[in-house]
Amino acid sequence: MAEIPKVRIEKVGQYLGQVVRIAGWLSRLRSSGKIAFLQIRDGSGRIQGVLAKADVPPEVFDRCKGLGQESSIIVTGEVKPDERAPGGFELQLRDVEVLQNAEGYPITPKDHGTDFLMDHRHLWLRSARQHAILRIRAEIMKAILDWLDDHDFLRVDTPILTPSACEGTTTLFETEYFESKAFLAQSGQLYNEATAMAFGRVYTFGPTFRAEKSKTRRHLMEFWMVEPEIAFCDFEENMEIQEQMLAYVIKRVIEKRAPELKTLERDTSKLEKAVVPFARLSYDEAVELLHSKGVEFEWGGDFGGTDETVIADAFDRPVFVHRFPTKIKAFYMKPDPNRPEVVLGADLLAPEGYGEIIGGGQRIDDLELLEQRIKEHNLPPEAYAWYVDLRRYGSVPHSGFGLGLERTVSWICGLDHVRETIAFPRMLYRLYP
Ligand code: 4AD
Ligand code: MG
Repeated sequence: MAEIPKVRIEKVGQYLGQVVRIAGWLSRLRSSGKIAFLQIRDGSGRIQGVLAKADVPPEVFDRCKGLGQESSIIVTGEVKPDERAPGGFELQLRDVEVLQNAEGYPITPKDHGTDFLMDHRHLWLRSARQHAILRIRAEIMKAILDWLDDHDFLRVDTPILTPSACEGTTTLFETEYFESKAFLAQSGQLYNEATAMAFGRVYTFGPTFRAEKSKTRRHLMEFWMVEPEIAFCDFEENMEIQEQMLAYVIKRVIEKRAPELKTLERDTSKLEKAVVPFARLSYDEAVELLHSKGVEFEWGGDFGGTDETVIADAFDRPVFVHRFPTKIKAFYMKPDPNRPEVVLGADLLAPEGYGEIIGGGQRIDDLELLEQRIKEHNLPPEAYAWYVDLRRYGSVPHSGFGLGLERTVSWICGLDHVRETIAFPRMLYRLYP
């Protein structure tokens, strides 16, 4: 007898009329005296197995009685078409092997509070909604990598343990490093600037860390950032690269992850509007816009979450806010030569209240100005000596940006909070599980 193929549920349609084996977990069991319906999931999809008492030896039928939610099982059955089933197929079961009968699974189909679900994040990941989100996250990551690779960017990884700050000294996670101390990277940017001078167009994609005492729906302590850095690139071209890349990512998710977006009940007509060119607004204009909407705001301040929402709501596509006051931006940002009180930097704000998803801009390429800025920001010059060197040996205009993956996932999925955009979120008061 030919061996029974072991199949993932998503591929079951290729085996219509054949007997297959599926290894997975029992998400629901309904049974009457003569027939049992086993809802099985295997990580790739869900399928219903129909177990008729008349079709199987009595011990097989008995073994399924009272099986708990999330019991691990291997089933054998014939693939049948079923129009009503979400996947279009069901299994006529011939055998059920039970690896473990799981009793008292804590997450049931009833409503649970968010704290409870977060405490059980290790199990919550098994739900259909979390599957949809994490698959979209993976698609976004892959789309970004594909776009960058197709546009001549080289992936060069940057360190996580670093001797110096990139985005201000107030949000550093510090750790012992033998006799000295190290900080977890807030951004790979400074290293990217070195590799951009070596390779021209580079990017890094990895976890970054911020000890931000912010308990908002947009903040994580550990988040993933993709950071392209481009030599011989000015501030305008930098924005063009950002919008091209992001528009591609959105289009790809809409095309390839339609079922997941549907599971999340995402209104994709809103995403479809994110086409090139995105809107552009200077900081000055943004302040005027706030005033015109009755929001109190003083020139020179940074936008809060609600300010960003008011600004973004004036547009149906993402909007770049550019030329922020020099005083509130990072030490490396290049001042506008025509107006040194503002920098050639831009934040990209997502629509629908999701706020800033990209921060970026042109970097200072002048040696003396950079040295002066390091002093003004009270940064230890020794730690930045290598970075300053980049302005000594073939300095060029260069720009880059950082896209926060979780905020982007949150927006594309239409979520209320970034906590669901990563398998195990690190939040202000949560390090478990
Ligand atoms: O604007 P930020 O701080 O920019 C940088 O780190 C630059 N060095 C990037 C660069 O030019 N290479 O952060 C970039 C993005 C933000 O727009 C946001 O999407 C995300 O990172 N981000 C966070 N996401 C989640 N939780 C946090 N605490 C975040 N802080 C920043
Ligand atoms: Mg920023």
